[in-house]
Amino acid sequence: MKSRKFRVGIIGGGGIAQAVHIPGWRNLPEVEIVGVADVAEATARKAAEAAGGARVFTDYRELLKLGLDAVDICTPNKVHTPAALAALTAGCHVLCEKPLAVSTAEVRAMGRLADQKKRKLMTAQHQRFTQGGLAARAWVDGGNLGEAYHARVRAVRRAWLPPSPGFIDAKLAGGGPCMDIGVHALDLCLWLMDFPQPVRVSGTSKTVFAKGHTMPNLWGEWDRARYSVEDFAAGFVHFDNGATLVLEAAWMCHQVENEDLVAQIFGKKGGLKWPSAEFATVVNGVHAQGSLTHPLHVPHPHWNEIAAFVDCVVNGKPSPVPWTETIKVIGILEAVYASSASGREIKLKL
Ligand SMILES: NC(=O)c1ccc[n+]([C@@H]2O[C@H](COP(=O)([O-])OP(=O)(O)OC[C@H]3O[C@@H](n4cnc5c(N)ncnc54)[C@H](O)[C@@H]3O)[C@@H](O)[C@H]2O)c1
Repeated sequence: MKSRKFRVGIIGGGGIAQAVHIPGWRNLPEVEIVGVADVAEATARKAAEAAGGARVFTDYRELLKLGLDAVDICTPNKVHTPAALAALTAGCHVLCEKPLAVSTAEVRAMGRLADQKKRKLMTAQHQRFTQGGLAARAWVDGGNLGEAYHARVRAVRRAWLPPSPGFIDAKLAGGGPCMDIGVHALDLCLWLMDFPQPVRVSGTSKTVFAKGHTMPNLWGEWDRARYSVEDFAAGFVHFDNGATLVLEAAWMCHQVENEDLVAQIFGKKGGLKWPSAEFATVVNGVHAQGSLTHPLHVPHPHWNEIAAFVDCVVNGKPSPVPWTETIKVIGILEAVYASSASGREIKLKL
């Protein structure tokens, strides 16, 4: 490792940056957070203070002039692509919050530029770094799943609709629960299935409750006039190896659980559920089941994700969440919307 510090800039200093990214960066002694850029100056200032006295910018293009090793993008979804393209052009490695982008065209543009510039691009899919994610992955690596032939993905909330414009205004968010929480469970599920190639998707996407007043929100009021994304979506996916997947995502619905964030994979040797890391199989002709515990203590999955990003940059390792995987996740979600709009099954060529 170089003797000088690893210089990072934060683009977007709001909720997730202050809650987990900045503490995660500060947890690494070899890192210096050089600056924070946020269009809201007060937010940039607060985040920069939390970052230990970093410089404050309201335009990320100014931050990029500082000669950084990397940027960490924590803006609303629609800003991810322009910010990442600018950062890669400036020679930075890029860690970017999920969803990496809201279209495959954008993911491809970011990925190709990163490859061309020989810079790392990592999607911040922190669920891969949770206890349940690591345990499930270890079980799959042990050959216990066998051929995965079907999966179920649920990212369904009773009434946890994020009220801020960055999530509910399509111009900023690019999608509703599909892109916000569906992306977590779908990424996890595809990762555990070793990322088969999706080839056909049919889906539906609609706004059932969020335009009206019948569903009280556990996160408070939101602007119905500005609300322009789905609050429910479902899809059915075919992969080139014959496997299939059912997906459901919602911020609001009538269910007892506040949140069901689950991926369930059916393999020919065993079955697996995430995040509980429960498995079912057959041992010596009898049914067997249990739950897995990874030996690694994981108090802060986001911190581990940031440490993995720094490790891949500094030690020349592959991106832990490469764009070539993310494009399959976004391709499926994009196709759910396209199928809903057209009323037809979408053929994917990723
Ligand atoms: N991994 C997770 O668990 C998780 C959780 C929450 C949010 N997120 C993701 O993080 C991102 C940010 O979410 P959040 O909850 O922090 O939102 P937020 O609204 O709290 O913060 C976003 C910040 O970006 C700033 N911003 C907007 N446009 C900008 C621009 N052009 N340049 C610089 N700053 C700009 C806003 O002023 C705001 O301060 C989203 O993509 C979201 O999906 C991930």
